[in-house]
Amino acid sequence: MGPISPFDPASGQALAISNLFILTLAIGGIVFLLVTSLVVYASIRYRSRQVGADPKQVFGNRRMEIAWTAAPAGLLLVLFGFTLHAMAVSDPPVSPSESPDMVIVAHQWWWEVRYPQDGVVTANEVHLPVGRPIRLRLESADVIHDFWVPALGRKMDATPGHPVTYSISVDKPGIYLGTCAEFCGAQHAWMRIRVVAQSPADFNRWLSQQAAVPTPAKTEAATRGAQLFQSLTCSSCHAIAGTPAQAHVGPDLTHLADRQTLGAGVLDNTPDNLKRWLTNPQAYKPGSYMPNLHLSPDQVDALVAYLESLK
Ligand code: CUA
Repeated sequence: MGPISPFDPASGQALAISNLFILTLAIGGIVFLLVTSLVVYASIRYRSRQVGADPKQVFGNRRMEIAWTAAPAGLLLVLFGFTLHAMAVSDPPVSPSESPDMVIVAHQWWWEVRYPQDGVVTANEVHLPVGRPIRLRLESADVIHDFWVPALGRKMDATPGHPVTYSISVDKPGIYLGTCAEFCGAQHAWMRIRVVAQSPADFNRWLSQQAAVPTPAKTEAATRGAQLFQSLTCSSCHAIAGTPAQAHVGPDLTHLADRQTLGAGVLDNTPDNLKRWLTNPQAYKPGSYMPNLHLSPDQVDALVAYLESLK
């Protein structure tokens, strides 16, 4: 896992975009060097030798005019051809009538990730099997967001009322970071995406583990946490499989303990951080729809013991 970079593609789709970017950068770089060298050369070579007198005036040069018209036109044609190619490779056709492998719903300010064929729902962390194109349907629950993981390929807008189905794929296992790329309100910056690309065997293992109902810890604190989760307002917004909590306003918490971050990337998922988050979410993500419930330290400890045992 490295910084988000256009030079480190992890799929054929991203490679096509990266190659086009590098080609454009190289052509732009050569033109820049050529033009600046000519300006420097001409301003020295053709400067006036006598103070106060105009240099020799030149009007018109048919050959040069044809050359500086034809050369950029040729370059544009070349870039147009490569762009058409990159567009075709980075956005292979998908049939929207086929059912999607994965549905991602953008929310202010987190990502709901569903695997409808297996009944799995998670958040902010997208697991993908390597070497297999995935039909992804992207939706929005509120405003326009944009799903962008540079290592995997193009950006895609999530527009309310207008779901899109497209194809994504990844060629090598690893963790790839992405983010929301369309300004969508106060916490736009904290709509991080973490893609976990796994071998098909690891991916299937993860999927069946996510589909299972978790067994919370049997400790006294965790049991009290489970009760609090249902009796406080937590269950009006969140879902945990195998319990009466089935709301999908906020992220599904069925296997929260397996996830690596909290609040769509704002904190690493550790018991201490979950404690901080539950005590005052607005301190870490001001404006988010996770309210400060003014829980007592005791209640927070019980909820942390419960939630961090949901594997
Ligand atoms: Cu969602 Cu920006």
